Amino acid sequence: MPQARIAELFAERYPRSLELAEQARQCFPSGVTHDSRYLEPGPVFVDRAAGSIKYSVEGHPIIDYWVGHGALLLGHSPSTVVQAVQEQMARGTHFAANHELEIRWAQLVQQLIPSAERVRFTSSGTEATLMALRIARLVTSRQKVVKLTGHFHGWHDFLVPQAYAPYVGPDNATPGIADGVLSDVISIPPNDVAALEQALSEHHPACVIIEATGGHWGAVPVSGEYLHAARELTQKYDVLFILDEVITGFRVDPGGAQAFYGVQPDMTTLAKILAGGLPGGALAGRADLLDALAFNNRYGRKIPHPGTYNANPLSAAAGIAVLEQVATGEPCRIANERASELRRRLNQLFIDKRANWIAYGEFSMIHILPDYDGPRPDSETFIPYEGQHLKLDGARNAKYKHAYRAALLLNGVDWFGWGGLTSAAHSKSDLDATVEAFDRAIGLLRADGWLP
Ligand SMILES: Cc1ncc(COP(=O)(O)O)c(C=O)c1O
Repeated sequence: MPQARIAELFAERYPRSLELAEQARQCFPSGVTHDSRYLEPGPVFVDRAAGSIKYSVEGHPIIDYWVGHGALLLGHSPSTVVQAVQEQMARGTHFAANHELEIRWAQLVQQLIPSAERVRFTSSGTEATLMALRIARLVTSRQKVVKLTGHFHGWHDFLVPQAYAPYVGPDNATPGIADGVLSDVISIPPNDVAALEQALSEHHPACVIIEATGGHWGAVPVSGEYLHAARELTQKYDVLFILDEVITGFRVDPGGAQAFYGVQPDMTTLAKILAGGLPGGALAGRADLLDALAFNNRYGRKIPHPGTYNANPLSAAAGIAVLEQVATGEPCRIANERASELRRRLNQLFIDKRANWIAYGEFSMIHILPDYDGPRPDSETFIPYEGQHLKLDGARNAKYKHAYRAALLLNGVDWFGWGGLTSAAHSKSDLDATVEAFDRAIGLLRADGWLP
């Protein structure tokens, strides 16, 4: 297999990035500060960004489908956010005190997210899911957590098991986690109502947590029916239902997946769009449950919750600026429309080019499945392999993924792994350029022996 041309072209187009990558390897393990940014032959270093475009340190424009790991529904640096953060910066970045912005920020969450009777801000989504679990344990006096295989909820001990493929054989995602933790985490196959009922009746856990549109932001979609079944079963077995809307909150609909599907969880975890592109997360939910964080509460014991950057004024300012626009419904509508059009056009391209890939997904999320050998019905709601999670989200050839991402970067597109997310800043001409980039990337990957 040749496999050399992409690396050669990459070195020609991104020489400064490769120099910086060498320096970065002397600072960070593998030269990166987030696992998913690791790329062979080296990551592209970005200098600045605006709207849908990032500019590499070499000055090359790149259409961005990472959108801040999903945080930038309005695209990069929208003027309202820049202005709000600049004004707040001049007024103070950290008061170590209550401030009015945190109230306005929480009120917007309450207005938009149906289950948000009360809110507590954290610094990240990982912290929000950790907090949800602690509350569930205090309130129910039970230990176990049921999660779905392949669902990602951040990197803390209790939810990282079974978050990454391969899901069969020895668990490779949990080095460093105490064995005692693992016995309290029950992982069940996604979208299997019978398996959920069995887990609830057999283990009687404190809670069930579900990624709102399915594992790895919809790579294995969950249906609205499954979410409703989860709500009914958790009520039947008196188990708390946590919906993780870190990605989907304010993205799939202004009120998240829970508003779209009409499902009311007990607690909801939020981050990303919530904080307008700055760090921040939140737990929202039933007032009686969040009372676990209150002094002199009904449980007689309070869950401690410090956190230096909770409700940081800069994140609050950015979050308010974005959520006020989210409330109009337009950003979600545009991002969803763009992704739908892109999925359709990419599938047409894959047919025309006889590439064994298929694009699928919901809302503003696009997943590309390589090595696809199934049928290609022409329907928006089509899910390859009838949703079998090991086929949609199984272990993949990492080298192929690097070649694929590098081939797209050579053609001005930065794709978020095999998947991508759209924002309201993506224009129709971005979509034209993206389809062309995929066309050329297919040519490169074929020449390097990756595609038949
Ligand atoms: C569904 C989901 N939950 C939780 C998290 C963790 O959020 P954070 O990266 O802010 O800790 C993520 C991050 O991507 C996520 O996608």
